[in-house]
Amino acid sequence: MQKNLIEVRHIQKVYNERLVLNNIDFTIAAGDFVALVGMSGGGKSTLLRLLAGLEAPTSGEILQNDVAVTGLNTKCRVMFQEDRLLPWFNVLKNVTLGDKQPEQIAKATELLDLVELADFSAAYPQSLSGGQKQRVALARALMADPELLLLDEPLGALDALTRQKMQKLILKIWQKRQVTIVLVTHDVTEAVRMATKVLVIKDQKIAWQTAIDLTYPRKNLVEVDQAAQQITQVILDEHQEKEA
Ligand SMILES: Nc1ncnc2c1ncn2[C@@H]1O[C@H](COP(=O)(O)OP(=O)(O)O)[C@@H](O)[C@H]1O
Ligand SMILES: [Mg+2]
Repeated sequence: MQKNLIEVRHIQKVYNERLVLNNIDFTIAAGDFVALVGMSGGGKSTLLRLLAGLEAPTSGEILQNDVAVTGLNTKCRVMFQEDRLLPWFNVLKNVTLGDKQPEQIAKATELLDLVELADFSAAYPQSLSGGQKQRVALARALMADPELLLLDEPLGALDALTRQKMQKLILKIWQKRQVTIVLVTHDVTEAVRMATKVLVIKDQKIAWQTAIDLTYPRKNLVEVDQAAQQITQVILDEHQEKEA
């Protein structure tokens, strides 16, 4: 059996006396690609911030390699919908964050090659397209060799074709670098195309989880659609009616 990288135990999160997450329990195996789906406002980003240690749960705990995450999770990196690049740094410097050590520069150069931006290291963010900026952000996130990469709707602002290209790139990185990924998306089809496991967050809970046992690349649209429809029904509350 695969080893658990993450164990989430009875997490509750309350904001201003409002319960946002309640009794959340799940595990993530090392090497998993988890997609977290659900309605807007359902607590997906909150859960990601808890995994990153950017916030603490109101109760419950998160273990990474059997050790409780307290404070900033240094073995994890987050990528957001907006690229958060520094406009006064060129692409290479955005990845190294200005570190001038030769081995850091060599590593950043290698990562820029991985995200297919080898020719852009001297360019500045304002001259790049949205997809290119997100690839720089991805390279920057990989600099620390995180065990866990958290992606909070990073493709949300991209056009459909760029989005598909990014999906392929993220899968390539996942397969090459053996990083564990949690992707937040409201696009259920994207979740089914990419993830090994989909978690549906609804009514403050993990309402459903399912393994996606389709081989990559997932080009069989019928299979992908079928799985996506089932998950959409759960999100939209139509699941029980169908079973009855
Ligand atoms: N820092 C915060 N303070 C108060 N309420 C918050 C905070 N962050 C999120 N919330 C609330 O928690 C709920 C879940 O938000 P969020 O995790 O962003 O959902 P999602 O990412 O699924 O859209 C929302 O109702 C949101 O308004
Ligand atoms: Mg969100």
